[in-house]
Amino acid sequence: MTDLDDRALEALAADLDAAPDPHRWNNKYPELGNGPISTDRFIDPAFYERERKEVFAKSWINVGSAHDFTGPNSFFVRDIKILGVSLLVVKDADGKVQAFHNVCSHRGNKLIWENRGACPKLFACRFHGWGYAADGALKEVPDGEVFHFDKEDWGLVPVRTESWNGFVFVNLDENGTEGLLEHLGPLAESLAGFPFDKLTLQYRYDVSERANWKVALDAQNEIYHVPMLAPLHRFLAGGAFSSNDEGYTRLYDFERLGRHSVYFSDSDADFQETRTGTINGGVSPSYNAPKLPLKVPFAFHVLFPNMVLAFFGNSMFTYNIWPEAVNQTTWEIRLHYQEPTNLAERVINEQAKCRFRDLLCEDAIGHEALQIGLESRARDAFVLGDQEIQIRAFHKNLDEYMERADNA
Ligand code: FES
Ligand SMILES: [Fe+2]
Repeated sequence: MTDLDDRALEALAADLDAAPDPHRWNNKYPELGNGPISTDRFIDPAFYERERKEVFAKSWINVGSAHDFTGPNSFFVRDIKILGVSLLVVKDADGKVQAFHNVCSHRGNKLIWENRGACPKLFACRFHGWGYAADGALKEVPDGEVFHFDKEDWGLVPVRTESWNGFVFVNLDENGTEGLLEHLGPLAESLAGFPFDKLTLQYRYDVSERANWKVALDAQNEIYHVPMLAPLHRFLAGGAFSSNDEGYTRLYDFERLGRHSVYFSDSDADFQETRTGTINGGVSPSYNAPKLPLKVPFAFHVLFPNMVLAFFGNSMFTYNIWPEAVNQTTWEIRLHYQEPTNLAERVINEQAKCRFRDLLCEDAIGHEALQIGLESRARDAFVLGDQEIQIRAFHKNLDEYMERADNA
C-alpha cells in the first residue's frame, strides 16, 4: 500500500467520523432498544392502576417548593388526585418542613381548605373545632367527652418529607426505606452547586387537559416537534432550537441519570444571545440579566416520575405533571427568573412569560389531539426516532420501576 493510499484511507475514515450517525443515541444506550411503544400504556385503565400503586404510591414526589411558603411558620396544601390524598405541608418557625395528611383525626374532615398561608395559632377543623399545632400535635378538643382517647395519639398523621434545593418531596410509602437523595442519585450530583436560590421570581400556570399524563410528558420530552407545530412554535421558537439546515435539532447530549434523564439541545456560538432571545429574553438588546452556569443554553431534566427541571438561557422552568385519571392530567408549569434589576428587565420577563404561555397552550392542544388518536386504537403501537431517545428512556425507567415493585 502506498503513502497516498494511506492518506486516502485516513481521509475517508475522517469523513465517516464526521458524518452524522443516524443511530447515535441508540448506539450509546443500546439497552433502550428501538422497538415500538404500545398504545395501551396511555389508554388502559389497568396500566394506570399499576402506575398508581407501583409508582406514585412508592416514589418520592415533588409537591412544591420554597415559593409555596409565605415564610417561616407558613403552610401550603397539596392534593394528589392519583393517590386520593390531601397533604398539609408546614414550614415551622425554625424552617423545618414536614407534610401531614390534611385529615382531622376526629371524624376525617379535610382539615385545611385554603391553598396556603401563615400558620394560625392552631390549625382548627371547621367541623367540631379540634385544633392542631404546626408540629401536628392535637392541642384542642372542645367540650371533649371522647372514649378510648389519649390526645397524644391523635395528632395529624405525618408523611415522609425531605427537601432538596428548596423543592419539597414526599413519599407516601410508609414502609419505604430509600431516602430522597438516593432516589435523585446522579441527577442530584449533576446539579450540585447550581444557584437555585438566585431564581426568586416565579409565575405559575396550571393546565387541565384531557390526556394521559405520559402523553403530556412525552410531548414535552423532545424538541423534534418545535420547527413544525404551527403557528406559534414555528414562528416564535423554531429558530431557537435549529441546528441543521432544515431547522431541526440534533441533540447536543443525552444522559441517563439513574432513573432520571437529561437532554441538551444542540447549540452554536450565538444561540444564547440571539436565538433563545426570541422566546426567553424578549427582543430587547438591553436585556443583560446574569446568565446561569449552563453547559448549553437548554437543558431538560426529567425527574422521575412526573417532574421536569429545565434550564433555558437565564431562566428555569419546572413542570409537575399530575395524573388524575387515565385520560385526565393537570400540567403544572412554573417559570423562575432571577429578580430583575430594572424596569426593562421586568417588562421583558412579563413578555417572556406570555410568550411561553402561548407556546405551551399550543402544546396542550396537541396533547389532547394525541390522546384522541391513541384512544381510537387505530394503531396498537407507535415508533420513535433517534432524536426521541429521551421518551424511550422514560418509558424504560417506568417499566424498571414497576418491575422493581413487582419483585419487592
Ligand atoms: S371532624 Fe374535625 S373536629 Fe370533628
Ligand atoms: Fe412544544
